[in-house]
Amino acid sequence: MIKDQHPLGSGFTAASTTTDILDGIDLTGREVIVTGGHGRLGREVTRALATAGASVTVAARDPHRAALGEIDAEVEQLDLTDPASVDAFATRWLATGRPLHALVNNAAMLFSPELRLDTRGNELSFSTSHLGHFQLTRALLPALRKAGGARVLTVTSGAARFGEIRWNDLAFSTGYDPGAAYGQSKRANVLFTVELDRRYADEGIRAFAAHPGVIIGPGPHHPSQLPSYRAQGLVDENGATIINPEAGKKTLAQGAATLVFGAVSPLLDGLGGLYLKDNDVAPLDDAVRPLTADNIPSDANSAMLDPAQARRLWTVTEQLLA
Ligand SMILES: NC(=O)c1ccc[n+]([C@@H]2O[C@H](COP(=O)([O-])OP(=O)(O)OC[C@H]3O[C@@H](n4cnc5c(N)ncnc54)[C@H](OP(=O)(O)O)[C@@H]3O)[C@@H](O)[C@H]2O)c1
Repeated sequence: MIKDQHPLGSGFTAASTTTDILDGIDLTGREVIVTGGHGRLGREVTRALATAGASVTVAARDPHRAALGEIDAEVEQLDLTDPASVDAFATRWLATGRPLHALVNNAAMLFSPELRLDTRGNELSFSTSHLGHFQLTRALLPALRKAGGARVLTVTSGAARFGEIRWNDLAFSTGYDPGAAYGQSKRANVLFTVELDRRYADEGIRAFAAHPGVIIGPGPHHPSQLPSYRAQGLVDENGATIINPEAGKKTLAQGAATLVFGAVSPLLDGLGGLYLKDNDVAPLDDAVRPLTADNIPSDANSAMLDPAQARRLWTVTEQLLA
């Protein structure tokens, strides 16, 4: 049964930024891991949490490329598509004896034009976003328990509304489509959140999935990207980024805000297994709504939160990782 999937009235809006979410919140003494915490949204999450006092570890597949500049955070190696790398990262973390107050599962592979597989034969966006984060989260459970109240925030997308789990062909042996592969991985992020919360809420580990909005960054954008961005209504005729938070088109600080909200906001205490957007719990909307340049549907729907599908995915994932 789906419950609590309705806005709280958080007081924030779609335009609220990371600074707004963290106003008055002191994260001193909190340990946080952000996967891909040097990328577009990840870097803003890292910056914001570190500025609020958290001790942040960025998990990056190539630490040399994870330039954080003036941001005060550690960087550790983690390749989510390599099970040995995930285990090594978790082993190193647990060996320090540190608790883990928030795990931000942010990294993803976005829209590969051609089918790519990991070394085990799994489609790469599913491998990165879902399998890697599933393995990482489970390996870090001792540290999450040690926090005495922890959050697992997994970054999903409005694409989770559309993304079907291809139960009989998860790796796209036929009919590969970049949008369908990304959608499957982002649906998996929400289903994982639902089942994770069901399993571990009693131990003080609560899970949320969050949609940041659509964020392409300030630009200038690569000329090859402009036709697609124009078609999606994301840039104007001069190639400048269009910002319209109510329509989901956000700055980095606005997009990262919902991720920070899910990771640390006390407004979510006592809740879990929910899908967030615009700095609140998202409304549930089961209407069929087409994706157009003027309308990017991103509310929750029953399919992404289905507890039976969530259990099924957990079991299938355990088998894939065995
Ligand atoms: N931007 C949007 O409009 C939007 C909309 C909805 C949802 N999201 C979600 O928001 C999250 C962040 O997206 P973004 O736009 O900030 O993308 P991004 O800049 O491409 O960041 C993705 C990050 O994931 C890391 N990564 C990729 N494969 C990895 C692997 N195998 N192991 C470890 N790290 C890996 C990348 O590291 P490298 O630097 O090594 O490549 C990068 O730091 C994603 O979950 C995405 O699905 C974004």
